[in-house]
Amino acid sequence: MSSVPTTSAEIREAYLKFFEEKGCQRWPSSSLIPDDPSLLLTVAGMVQFKPYFLQQKHLDDRYIGATTAQKCVRTNDIDIIGTDGRHLSFFEMLGNFSFGKYFKKEMCAWAYEFSTEVLKLEKDRIHVTVFTDDDEAAEIWEKVGVAPDHITRLGEDDNFWVAGPTGPCGPCSEMYYDQGPEVGCGRPDCAPGCACDRFLEYWNLVFTQFDRQEDGSMVPLAHGNIDTGMGLERVAGIMQGVVSNFDTDILRGLVGVGERLSGKTYGTDEKVDLSLRIMADHSRAITFMVGDGILPSNEGRGYILRRLLRRAVRHGRLIGIEGPFLKEFLDAIVEEMGPVYPEIVENKALIEKVLESEEERFSRTIDMGEKFLDDALEGLKEGDTLDGVTAFTLHDTYGFPFELTAEICAERGINVDKDGFDEEMTAQRERARAARNDEAWKGFGDIYTHILDTHGATEFVGYGKDDCDARIIDLIVDGKIVDEANEGDEVTVILDKTPFYGEMGGQVGDTGTIFNQYGTIEVKNTTKPEADLAAHTGVITAGTIRKDDNVHAEIDKRRRALIARNHTATHILQAALVKVLGDHVKQAGSLVAPDRLRFDFTHFEPMTHEQILEVERICNNVIMSDAPVLTYETSLTAAREAGVTALFGEKYGEFVRVVETGSFSKELCGGTHVGHTSEIGLFKIVQETSIAANTRRIEAVTSLEAYKYMSTYEEELRETARFLKIPPLDVCERVVKMQKQLDEYERVAKRNKKIAAEGSFADYIKAAVDANGYKLVIVNMGEGGSVQSMREGWDIVKQRAQGKPFALVVFAISADKGTPIMLAAGNDAAVAAGFNANDVIKQVAPLIGGGGGGKPTMAQAGGKNAEGIDAAIAKAKEILGA
Ligand code: ALA
Repeated sequence: MSSVPTTSAEIREAYLKFFEEKGCQRWPSSSLIPDDPSLLLTVAGMVQFKPYFLQQKHLDDRYIGATTAQKCVRTNDIDIIGTDGRHLSFFEMLGNFSFGKYFKKEMCAWAYEFSTEVLKLEKDRIHVTVFTDDDEAAEIWEKVGVAPDHITRLGEDDNFWVAGPTGPCGPCSEMYYDQGPEVGCGRPDCAPGCACDRFLEYWNLVFTQFDRQEDGSMVPLAHGNIDTGMGLERVAGIMQGVVSNFDTDILRGLVGVGERLSGKTYGTDEKVDLSLRIMADHSRAITFMVGDGILPSNEGRGYILRRLLRRAVRHGRLIGIEGPFLKEFLDAIVEEMGPVYPEIVENKALIEKVLESEEERFSRTIDMGEKFLDDALEGLKEGDTLDGVTAFTLHDTYGFPFELTAEICAERGINVDKDGFDEEMTAQRERARAARNDEAWKGFGDIYTHILDTHGATEFVGYGKDDCDARIIDLIVDGKIVDEANEGDEVTVILDKTPFYGEMGGQVGDTGTIFNQYGTIEVKNTTKPEADLAAHTGVITAGTIRKDDNVHAEIDKRRRALIARNHTATHILQAALVKVLGDHVKQAGSLVAPDRLRFDFTHFEPMTHEQILEVERICNNVIMSDAPVLTYETSLTAAREAGVTALFGEKYGEFVRVVETGSFSKELCGGTHVGHTSEIGLFKIVQETSIAANTRRIEAVTSLEAYKYMSTYEEELRETARFLKIPPLDVCERVVKMQKQLDEYERVAKRNKKIAAEGSFADYIKAAVDANGYKLVIVNMGEGGSVQSMREGWDIVKQRAQGKPFALVVFAISADKGTPIMLAAGNDAAVAAGFNANDVIKQVAPLIGGGGGGKPTMAQAGGKNAEGIDAAIAKAKEILGA
């Protein structure tokens, strides 16, 4: 390389090219969602290579190692981000990795060569650290040209590297660049490892020699490996002559976006700078996280995303940006980084939607947070202290930075308990750490890895064939490899080749039979315990099956055909959804079974009935057009350039399989499909529901199941029509008409009932007797009364008495379906004359074996003893003076 790489893009390319020339294979960055349950996010380049370090997988023999530019997110220091120039939540790690083919000697020499020959760093400014007792590393460094006084030995805290709680790890050696005494602390003992800005660590070389176990013990790996990580942003800083990452090309551009939006200038006010830095950093993390399929939520990585997003928005508000603004950052990031990371270009519409809906949701939360704080401050007066838990809740739930809470409190002369807040923060960090440690590395080192290592991959012949001759590589019973198995045994069979599709990408596994002249296995399912290994599980229905037997393997063709129809239909459905709803629609999961299909996708509101009909119509049009379905292999780059739809987080090799449905849909897919769309027959959406925030689900049927589905509905309609004695297509009109009639009848019936009740209450009033200064009506409603009818009755009577000078009391009793109930009520004039409904009920209720009460104007009671009704009436008469 003649010219010195200076921009981030040049440095990235120079690094990858340098190690490619040394013999490493260039790999794409893996997703931010690691294929590793012990980690929440991809934190380093080595994460995707764990199985290679552990010798469970092997690189192509032509290469000595691998090299990547890996997108990473680290949030353990989230509160430091923005306060200095070095810490970032999102960063790119340039790495190279060796799995036994080169080690310390080569690595240190190449690292020095890259630093001095390619980056052309001044030799005198390069310092290295080595692990305390790693004399070998110290010697190598001296040999390649590092002066002895530029070599520092550091202990385990600095120079021992682990990616997660378990897995490959080892001592390391770090390279530092001396940014000059003027940016340092000035202390005479200032050296690499000092917290000041002078010595900038830019490259970490890990000699990955151990596999840390769950119990903490270190098992040596078979041979020395290399894992390295160079921070692209830090090197960009060095090459661009700036001390802070935020002054490098990409990040400075994003700081500029914040400046433009807020009208503020970077470098004039430390508080504003902090906000600008946080927005620049967090916006990249957010963009890439959503680009890899992470959606905001209240747990796990979705929660990390939400916190970053809120912090960014909050800081935007702090420096006066009004309304949603993250889209502006997204545009700038996609423009700058899209050429290297096509996923953020492909998923831009989705990212935009997510940002928009989260910003809107958050602005509501902020208002709630302010209210929460107001409430908390209510009881406090000047000089008081707001407790740490409240400040933490504001931070954690409402996304209020501590400083904001402190600021609002200061305006009212109130302090905030910073220590209490810090304690809560520490406790939360510990909880997060414990949660991370909960799940250990699973799935490696088991029986299938062993089989794969020993015999290699299963050859899949099922794209073109339904059956084939094969050999039994291994037989597994109860988790152990056996030599033979007999009738009745539940077995798992590994073949050298198979027409059986192993469950993957949502498509269920095949069923069928595996047999020879000695025995038969009925295969109930096929799975893929390892990417290239098919495991057939089933039961031996006859005879004996032995390891190394030659057998014939045959799938259930009819079932497979139904699956293929549903699979192709799923592709058509996805394309139709994008067409109708927009580019933000991305697959979030799927199930392709013989009798149904299920498709989960990102979308932010329920689909309307019209949209569902439109999607269904489009799908059936594509099906009826009899479009050919083509499958072919191509390179990932070519597929991406052709705009093929890829899945979030899916790992694709160099060659990918593309499934094209006419000109309508193009997807990367390993599944089995129909040859022409018309084979699908018919497509019907059965249901559209929500399964999580921002994720919808469509359930649908095709082919014979669609026919069955429609027949069921049609039969139901015909049955109704037969009953109504009208043609089926008149049913709707007739039912609407009938419903209207019914409503009218109900209205009339209700009115009549009221008239009748008024009539009978009028009779009751006529029968009123003069009692203790009021007119008294005693009613026994028999079996027919209810509390409601009694109250209604009282209302009628009261209305009648309205405006008349007399006092009126009603005592009603009835046995509501055998249960006695009673009501006593009087108007104000009656109460003035001494009537008290509550007293009456309290005294009478015991006679029906119950209790109750109320106010002086109205009280009621229920009881158990209907026999007591007559006695109750007599008692009421006595009390009321009838
Ligand atoms: N995996 C090492 C790191 O992240 C290189 O520093």
